[in-house]
Amino acid sequence: MTHLRVVKSWEISENEVTSETIYTNRRRFLKSLIGAGIGASLLPLTGCQKSSSSLALEQSFQLPKIPSLKTNPAFASVDGPIADEALAARYNNFYEFGGGKNIWLKAQNLPTDPWKVEVTGLVKNPQTYDLEQLKKQFPLEERIYRFRCVEAWSMVLPWVGFPMRALLEAVEPTAQAKFVRFTSFYDPEITRGPGLHFGFLPWPYQEGLRLEEMANELAFFALGIYGHDLPKQHGAPIRCVLPWKYGFKGAKSVVKIEFLEQQPATYWNTIDPNEYDFEANVNPTKPHPRWSQATEKFISKGPGLSWELKETLPYNGYGKYVASLYV
Ligand code: MTE
Repeated sequence: MTHLRVVKSWEISENEVTSETIYTNRRRFLKSLIGAGIGASLLPLTGCQKSSSSLALEQSFQLPKIPSLKTNPAFASVDGPIADEALAARYNNFYEFGGGKNIWLKAQNLPTDPWKVEVTGLVKNPQTYDLEQLKKQFPLEERIYRFRCVEAWSMVLPWVGFPMRALLEAVEPTAQAKFVRFTSFYDPEITRGPGLHFGFLPWPYQEGLRLEEMANELAFFALGIYGHDLPKQHGAPIRCVLPWKYGFKGAKSVVKIEFLEQQPATYWNTIDPNEYDFEANVNPTKPHPRWSQATEKFISKGPGLSWELKETLPYNGYGKYVASLYV
């Protein structure tokens, strides 16, 4: 069944795609965590959004092209169209910069130059890379992947980056290493999310994988999207992309990669393990405790927001690559 809905307004309200129930419940949950002060703390953010212009939005993603880029033929297309770039650039989750979807303008405060990524823990060759080193050592390629958020919306996105497996080969985790933890940029002076105002949320944003998951062919570090560098709202300058898992597993703006023996605590799993399990594989038969995951609102066209209702695929359609990890 296809349900097409078009919103004329340029601005997207997150309620338009994320259903009212999901939106309200997730935000209510955050509010319940941080108490009555949240309304006041969000006022300046709302003010910023109103003064933003479509020109500024476009500037946020008019970034240097990645030279000599080739699309990996194994991931050159999927069964749906790539999302309109301006839509993808203004429909984001980046809680460090606020609890709404429309945080692209706030995210422009993220300082990305210089940037260092520390690779540490149980590895034979610990490294601290800057961006130029990463780009030089790991050839970049384009991959068109489906993206499925736990909030039951989805897009198709053209990422540019390199397989996580290439980093594993470079740093060589020791035999003791069983897990990896990714840590996002965190600076309460710069980011202005609700948790940073009230300090109740488990910042910094962290995510984790089993080592075999990280070694899977699909696991990807993105340094770009739509053929150019990654815009700040998408998690510049480097983020994780794990297309068979819910989007929250893809930590943005990664500053640290640690190899560990034990499963690490992660941001959403610490907030509520029943709602956001560590594995977080896309699974249409396993409802979120408060909503179904059987279908998704597939977003593709702009400039107004439109979506089609689609059936969600096990592992987001990537079972042939990853199902063997979970037998
Ligand atoms: N990474 C950080 N550091 N902070 C976040 O709030 N949100 C996650 C994930 N990575 C998040 C994050 C969630 S819930 C989703 S759905 C995706 O980023 C959204 O990625 P996008 O904004 O590029 O679509």
